[in-house]
Amino acid sequence: MVLVDLTTGALIAEPDAAATVLEPSADHDMLETAAGGNAGPIAIMFPSFADGRGFSLARILRDRLGFTGEIRAVGSLIPDQSQFLLRSGFDTAEIADPGAAESWNASLAHIRRSYQPSARNPLPLRWNASAKAAAELDRVLAAEDDLVERIKLIADCIDGRIAFSTSLGLEDQVILQAIAESGVTKAGAAVDVFTLDTGRLFPEVLETVELSELRYRTRIRLVVPDAREVEELVTRDGVYGFRQSVDNRKSCCEVRKVRPLNRALRGAQGWITGLRRDQSQARADVPMAAWDEARGLIKVSPLADWTDEQVNTYIDAHSVVVNPLHAQGFVSIGCAPCTRAIEPGEDPRAGRWWWEAEDKKECGLHVADSEQRSAVPVAQEEKAA
Ligand code: ADX
Ligand code: SF4
Repeated sequence: MVLVDLTTGALIAEPDAAATVLEPSADHDMLETAAGGNAGPIAIMFPSFADGRGFSLARILRDRLGFTGEIRAVGSLIPDQSQFLLRSGFDTAEIADPGAAESWNASLAHIRRSYQPSARNPLPLRWNASAKAAAELDRVLAAEDDLVERIKLIADCIDGRIAFSTSLGLEDQVILQAIAESGVTKAGAAVDVFTLDTGRLFPEVLETVELSELRYRTRIRLVVPDAREVEELVTRDGVYGFRQSVDNRKSCCEVRKVRPLNRALRGAQGWITGLRRDQSQARADVPMAAWDEARGLIKVSPLADWTDEQVNTYIDAHSVVVNPLHAQGFVSIGCAPCTRAIEPGEDPRAGRWWWEAEDKKECGLHVADSEQRSAVPVAQEEKAA
């Protein structure tokens, strides 16, 4: 057996074999017993590299039980996991093939040394946003069921500003509650929460902004469109021009939503959204985390794999603040002139742009840049920025 020291990359050929082995199914009593006396080492078994339970066990040993001895990862592991192992509190990983040590080292080299990571006294290990980091975060988030833990993972792993775009819809309110509960905002890694105030929002949305700010002790920034672009759009198409054609509607969404979104995300390394796979056909493949090439950031959808039922259960269990319009049959809520209540059993997105064909119903926030279009010129400052 050969171990790799995750903090230095050094190989340990003859490790102390007397480790207490914990299976990933270990309960709290077992963890407490293993941590008793604070001796160690403790080996945590990974039956498959896709099984994320071992990360949570190490976290509990470090954070809740104050264990400071060696924690070793054993079993089915791959080099790409080295950073998450380290961040979760592991010191060493068993590698079956010593020839793989180089790959482990290469993976560890991605860690920003400025953080001086120490597994016994873990500091947040963060990555520069990249496609590789996004793929790894996607895998780790999928292996973690608990939403608050998912938020912590996102805040821990993304280096730099993390922006959360909220429409104050049900999913976004669940995420806001979990962000508040996770305490990540208090730890200094504040999540920048903002909503796109298109100028056409329901008053109830703004009421929900205020209530949420009070309840979750956070500021929700209102990001507004460029005034001259709105003037130009309305002069060209009329106040309700977006009803006349899909192109007009897309121009309106671009000026009032997409361009302000891009401005709000400038400089961010991470972008949290409330997208879920079962919201529509178009969203069926939404990943938990993915590299957004156009914006140069990691886009994260921590509820991607949640069902409607999970959202509602969470809302009830945590008395989450919700928009009062939901009680009147509004499900997915956007701008007032483009949203209507739906009947029970109707498609959840049937209340958005209901006069358009199903396959046209995306406002452009979640569409790649190349697929967007607009005939409204970009205002000068926007161009220069
Ligand atoms: S939309 O593309 O049809 O408008 P939807 O209402 O389903 O989107 O919301 C999906 C996600 O897009 C939300 O979870 C949120 O992250 C973002 N979003 C939508 N509308 C807004 C808004 N007005 N302000 C900020 N974020 C928004
Ligand atoms: Fe304009 Fe309607 Fe899009 Fe709002 S949802 S930006 S009003 S077209």
